[in-house]
Amino acid sequence: MGKVTIRDIARMKADGKKIPMITAYDYTSACLADNAGIPIILVGDSLGMVVLGYESTIQVTLEDILHHMKAVSRGAKQALLVADMPFMTYHVDAGQALTNAARLMQEGGAHSVKLEGGESMAPTVRRLVECGIPVMGHIGLTPQSVNALGGYRVQGRGLEAAERLLRDAQALEQAGAYSVVLELVPSPLAGLISSRLTIPTIGIGAGPECDGQVQVLHDMLGLFTNFSPKHAKQFAQLSESIKMAFAQYMQEVEAGDFPTDKQSFTMDPAVLEELQA
Ligand code: KIV
Ligand code: NA
Repeated sequence: MGKVTIRDIARMKADGKKIPMITAYDYTSACLADNAGIPIILVGDSLGMVVLGYESTIQVTLEDILHHMKAVSRGAKQALLVADMPFMTYHVDAGQALTNAARLMQEGGAHSVKLEGGESMAPTVRRLVECGIPVMGHIGLTPQSVNALGGYRVQGRGLEAAERLLRDAQALEQAGAYSVVLELVPSPLAGLISSRLTIPTIGIGAGPECDGQVQVLHDMLGLFTNFSPKHAKQFAQLSESIKMAFAQYMQEVEAGDFPTDKQSFTMDPAVLEELQA
C-alpha cells in the first residue's frame, strides 16, 4: 500500500471499513505504528500530558508540536499524519490559523491538521480547506476548553447538548472537514452522528458505532500505572515489562553479572602485553 490519503480515509467509510488511528510523539513509536499499518497517526497535544509532564493540553505550544511532528514524520512512511493545533494557535482569526497550520505542514511534515470546536470554528475550517489544508475536526469533550467545561466529562447527554453536538458535526462537514473526532460522547449519539455524516467519525470514548477509533499511545500500551481513563484499553502492560527490565538491569550491574563477554570487545593480546610492560 502507498501513502494513505484523505481519499483513502473517505473510501474506508464508504466501504464500511473501520479506521484505526493512534497518537505518536517520536521517531521510534512512529516507525512502530507505521510498520503495523495503522492508517492515521496523530501528533496530539496529549503530548503535553504523556510526554512533557504538563498539567493539561493548554500549556502545549506550536513549537512543542512542531518538534515532535518532525520526529514522527521522519519515522512514518505510509500513514496519514495529523498535527494537533495547540490552544490559541487558531482562535484569533483565520489568518493566524493558516500561518500556524502551514508551519505544521511545511516544517513539521504534517499532511493535515486537527483543531477543536464545531459551528464556531467552521469558517476557519473552510478557509484552511480552501487553501489546501485538510482539516480533522474534534468535538464533544475538547480538552483545550477543560476550564470552561469544568472538567473531563461526557458531553451531549441532554437533548439540547446532543442537538448542539449534531449541529457542530454537520457544520464541520459542510465547512469541508474530512473527518471529525468525537471524544467522550454517549455511544448512541455518536452512532447517530456517524450515520448522519458522510465524512468519517473517529471516536475516543464514543462507542463502537464510530467509523474509526483513536487511542493515546501511552494509554493503550499500558505505560501508565497510576491512571487509566475508562475509554482506554490496555492492549499491552508495558509499564510492567519496563519495571521488570529496570530491576533486572540494576541487579545484574550491582552483582557484576552484566556485562559479560557477549556485550564486550576484545583486542590483540600482543598489544595488551606491550601496554603492560
Ligand atoms: O491529543 C490527542 O491525543 C487527541 C486525541 C485523543 C484525539 O486529541
Ligand atoms: Na488533542
